[in-house]
Amino acid sequence: MSEPTPDIKKGLVGVYADVSTVSKVMPETNSLTYRGYAVQELCEECSFEEVAYLLWNGELPTKAQLTAFNAEVAAQRAISPALHRVIKEFPHGGHPMDAIRTAVSFMGMEDPESADVSEPATRRKAARLLAKIPTAIAAAHRASKGLEPIEPNPAHSFGENFFNLVFGKVPAPEVLKAFDVSLILYAEHTFNASTYTARLVTSTGADIHGAITAGIAALKGPLHGGANEAVMHMLKEVGGPDHAEEWLSTRFDHKALVMGFGHRVYKTGDSRVPTMTKYAEKMAEVVGDNTWMNTSRVLAAKMLKEKNIHPNLDFPAGPAYYLMGFDIPLFTPIFVAARVTGWSAHVIEQAADNRLIRPLSHYTGPEQRPVVPMNQR
Ligand code: COA
Repeated sequence: MSEPTPDIKKGLVGVYADVSTVSKVMPETNSLTYRGYAVQELCEECSFEEVAYLLWNGELPTKAQLTAFNAEVAAQRAISPALHRVIKEFPHGGHPMDAIRTAVSFMGMEDPESADVSEPATRRKAARLLAKIPTAIAAAHRASKGLEPIEPNPAHSFGENFFNLVFGKVPAPEVLKAFDVSLILYAEHTFNASTYTARLVTSTGADIHGAITAGIAALKGPLHGGANEAVMHMLKEVGGPDHAEEWLSTRFDHKALVMGFGHRVYKTGDSRVPTMTKYAEKMAEVVGDNTWMNTSRVLAAKMLKEKNIHPNLDFPAGPAYYLMGFDIPLFTPIFVAARVTGWSAHVIEQAADNRLIRPLSHYTGPEQRPVVPMNQR
């Protein structure tokens, strides 16, 4: 006798899984706040470091608090010689997301407070992760190209440090600003798949390195963070604004997904897109190459007209990172470097008022049956 089917929310669509004070998405007004502040205002007024402090502490820092916070993070940027050796041994051709997932897992094993899941220790570990993740991303990237890693410079801002670790130089202020804006926009977004993954791991009593490792694994998927890389591959495949309409029509004919469009929560526009688009346009201006943004514009107009589907943050972030000079496989790792702030805020929040996350499944397999001995099968 099969049981009646319970009300299943496939993909947990529309399910409120918990309360949170970290951020709020308001799809009816296409807006997003972090701890009560509109994200576009944070982008214009604050640095990524200030936003990281805000996410972790609930308030924007004073000058003295920010100086202390920056000093704490910047002093911990170096990764261990053992991790450098491991990174050099990573398989050639491995994806940088797998590299940073493995590196974070390794950092957990090395961390002197690995087993301490108290809030003060978790906060200290979060700061270490924020500091070391860019170093590991850049070291793995350079190793994959046969290049030696670059030592982090504690005098650099978060953005300056990232560029310097990857390229060995710091770009113009307008490039740094666009990068910082992208980090702020990527920092946090309520119960998205990777954040919920991190909370679920935390709910078992596991440590923050485990939660962030799992978050990175979830973020890699093309339906989530991996979309920013997929967008750039798509723009290159389209081959310019003149081909965009025809390319999209073929895509529609095949009922294929168009990367960088659609969102589980926003159905009439992603709050973060106008700000990121503005800064991606600035990048196009700085570099003097409008191909990607012109192509994007044609794709977005046709998607809206024919499917009523809006772009998400990954749509402008992909070309912005490309115009900044990053290789495409680095786009989602950059998302990791930013989202570790939001993940950590949620890990701290989950642990502070925890209940094991453990939903139910409705069984639809075979009825109970006897095991037939091997010689009779
Ligand atoms: N391209 C083409 N069609 C899309 C689409 C896209 N990017 N996103 C949604 N749709 C279509 C769906 O196929 C569905 O059509 P149907 O009703 O005919 O089946 C309809 O729009 C509603 O979408 P739905 O499947 O309910 O969306 P979701 O909430 O389950 O999925 C995403 C949300 C983000 C997974 C989905 O939009 C997607 O895969 N986008 C592309 C990947 C991406 O950019 N991810 C980054 C997200 S920030």
